[in-house]
Amino acid sequence: MEDRLREMAEAARTALREAASLDELDQARARYLGRSGVLRDIQQGIRDLAKELRPQVGQLINQTRAELERILEERRQELEAGQAHLRVARDSIDVTLPGRSQPVAGRHPLLATLDDMLEIFLGLGYTIAEGPEVEDNYYGFEALNYPPDHPAMDEQMTFYIADDVLLRSQTSPVQIRVMETQEPPVRVVVPGRCFRRDTVDATHSHTFHQLEGLCVDEGVTFADLKGTLLAFARGMFGPEARVRFRPDFFPFTEPSAEFAVSCFACAGEGCRVCQGSGWMELGGAGMVDPNVLAGVGYDTERYTGFAFGVGIERFAMNRYGIPDMRLLYSGDMRMLRQF
Ligand code: DAH
Repeated sequence: MEDRLREMAEAARTALREAASLDELDQARARYLGRSGVLRDIQQGIRDLAKELRPQVGQLINQTRAELERILEERRQELEAGQAHLRVARDSIDVTLPGRSQPVAGRHPLLATLDDMLEIFLGLGYTIAEGPEVEDNYYGFEALNYPPDHPAMDEQMTFYIADDVLLRSQTSPVQIRVMETQEPPVRVVVPGRCFRRDTVDATHSHTFHQLEGLCVDEGVTFADLKGTLLAFARGMFGPEARVRFRPDFFPFTEPSAEFAVSCFACAGEGCRVCQGSGWMELGGAGMVDPNVLAGVGYDTERYTGFAFGVGIERFAMNRYGIPDMRLLYSGDMRMLRQF
């Protein structure tokens, strides 16, 4: 019996000491020290021993139990400490790790250019208006004083969705929509996307952007137009900027002009940016044709106005030295990350 006790004690010590988890430790405890465990079984064997042997064996059993319980307790503490350690490791934050950097968005060069343009006109007391990209013939051309056979209305130049439904080829139709809903004084700028049947290359795109301007009030003259566009050019390029007007033709303005600003890179000397001319063409402008004002019910004896339209793409390309218009729409991160 003592042999059996010794063997059992040896096995129990190993099992307790080597329990790899609290669960395993509990299983070992139940097996050796539990109510129906091996030690209890041995203890019950005492009854079969000779009376004089019983005290000695009983004492041995008690010693063994005490020893095993001590080992059990030691191992439990070890395992609990280990688990606590693990828990700390799992839940804690490693403050020495480098932070995760948040990607910073940049402004697209087109939008950055447009925002800067709008900022200037807002400062001059203009408000921002918008209109639909899909127009009909009336707003697209007729109300803008285009004669019925004007080549701009040709399918060669304008995208038609149906007979009388087209993608606007300029932001000028919004002039009509604004004036229809508002009496003078009118001072609006209209940013927007336009569409033309152009073949895509480094300087053309079927989809592009314009900023339209319209000012109608009593006593508005060409001098106001010139002053406004000069303020615009100076706002964009600095106090040295000059503007140039040359005769042009648009059905909705009379007189009409194309306007240019002195090259921001060479201040008019002539360089690579302006292809030697010293000027950068920005867009068209003019005094609103009285036919247009009459068409929206304005009193043409009382009111005059000027209008202008600026292409945003070319502006942005000059400004940032972007050589190919297609880069503006590419979504290529190598290009976008530079802004
Ligand atoms: N809409 C013209 C174009 O796309 C630009 C333009 C010219 C706008 C004269 C105007 C204007 O408002 O008065 O070429």
